[in-house]
Amino acid sequence: MTDNTTRRHQVRLLKQGWTFEVQENQTILNAAQEAGIRFVSSCRNGSCRTCLCLVKSGRVRHLIEWPSLSFDEKDDGYALACVATIDSDVEIETDQAFLF
Ligand code: FES
Repeated sequence: MTDNTTRRHQVRLLKQGWTFEVQENQTILNAAQEAGIRFVSSCRNGSCRTCLCLVKSGRVRHLIEWPSLSFDEKDDGYALACVATIDSDVEIETDQAFLF
């Protein structure tokens, strides 16, 4: 039996006023790209910090054990879009998102 009930949540980019959906375990970066939004990125593996963004509300979960963030940055709500997914609707602040 196939389960067609993939959970999706929504990202709202506060500065740009854009929204897009993220599937379960999909990265924010990939979901944005599918929606026609380019997050500035480089390594895409959680090490260079180019895709750093600030999560203002909602729950973000990193898909790797040691993303390149300090404990203080995590506590302050920073996330790396290339290796993070969302577990609720979220609001994100970034200057590094553009339309393709
Ligand atoms: S692109 Fe390098 S940490 Fe996200």
